[in-house]
Amino acid sequence: MLDQLNAIEKDALAGLNAAADSAALEVWRIQHLGRNSALMTILGDLGKLSKEERPAIGKRGNEVKKALEDALAAKAEALRRAEMERALTAGAVDVTLPGRPIARGRLHPATQGLRKMYAVFAEMGFQVYRSREVETDDYNFTYLNIPPHHPARDMWDTFHTLTPGVILRTHTSPGQIRAMREYCPEPIRVILPGMCYRYEQPDARHEIQFYQIEGLAVGKHITFSDLKGTLSDFARRLFGQKVRTRFYADHFPFTEPSAGMDIECFLCGGRGCRVCSGTGWLEILGGGMVHPAVLRNGGYDPRVYSGFAFGMGPQRITMLMHRIEDIRHFLANDLRFLEQF
Ligand code: PHE
Repeated sequence: MLDQLNAIEKDALAGLNAAADSAALEVWRIQHLGRNSALMTILGDLGKLSKEERPAIGKRGNEVKKALEDALAAKAEALRRAEMERALTAGAVDVTLPGRPIARGRLHPATQGLRKMYAVFAEMGFQVYRSREVETDDYNFTYLNIPPHHPARDMWDTFHTLTPGVILRTHTSPGQIRAMREYCPEPIRVILPGMCYRYEQPDARHEIQFYQIEGLAVGKHITFSDLKGTLSDFARRLFGQKVRTRFYADHFPFTEPSAGMDIECFLCGGRGCRVCSGTGWLEILGGGMVHPAVLRNGGYDPRVYSGFAFGMGPQRITMLMHRIEDIRHFLANDLRFLEQF
């Protein structure tokens, strides 16, 4: 029977070596240490042995049991380590890999352009005055010398709200009245940037929603030369000394005399393209001397005060800066466009 125990031990230990995972280990445990295993049967039947045999067999049986249990524990621990090792290598983090780039947002090209223009006007002493986008008919038209039913209202195709007399501003000029009423009788030198709305057919140069930068200067000795000097200087500061501009007579009900300013279309180098309608020049602003009636509506006495005003299309200027050939790109929210700036 001692031989039998030795054989059980040898056989069991050999089997344990072959177990490759915890499932195999459990099978092995039931087979060699389980209640019906050969070893347990011998230990269970010790009572049936003779008094002489019992101590030696009992002792050896318990040694074998202890040896198998120890071997099982050691093997289980070895398997656990191996499994952990494998899991760690499989899920390993390569700390030398470069990080994933964070997608960074950026300012809209229209905003970038606006900020450049604010900076130029700031150098020239103009403060930013914020006015509202939803306006009354009075501020948008009447106080600007465009009475109700006057045909000049047709110059601006207007979005009306459901409230009679309340509209989306068609230009930033109503802000002139608001600034004058706030500052009167102090002198004024402000720009009024913001969104304007017109109910019209969009094309490469026109959107129904667009930015304007209004300029307004009011004081006691302001002349048309100041307007012309300010605007030519603005163009040179923005585009460099060599940029060409041209002024021409125009008409606005709220300025007298009125003028328009073109800037050379350097999208096509003046040869003519879709953006400048083949003329080589791009209209970027209208302006003039503030009409006496408008000064009066702002609270200033036109016999003492004079002023100039202009309204420019900063998006058209941004188009020139970046050679953007269609104003509709600004509102299309196409990342392929936006990510270029
Ligand atoms: N408000 C005019 C427009 O939108 C531009 C302008 C502004 C003209 C100020 C004269 C003075 O067309």
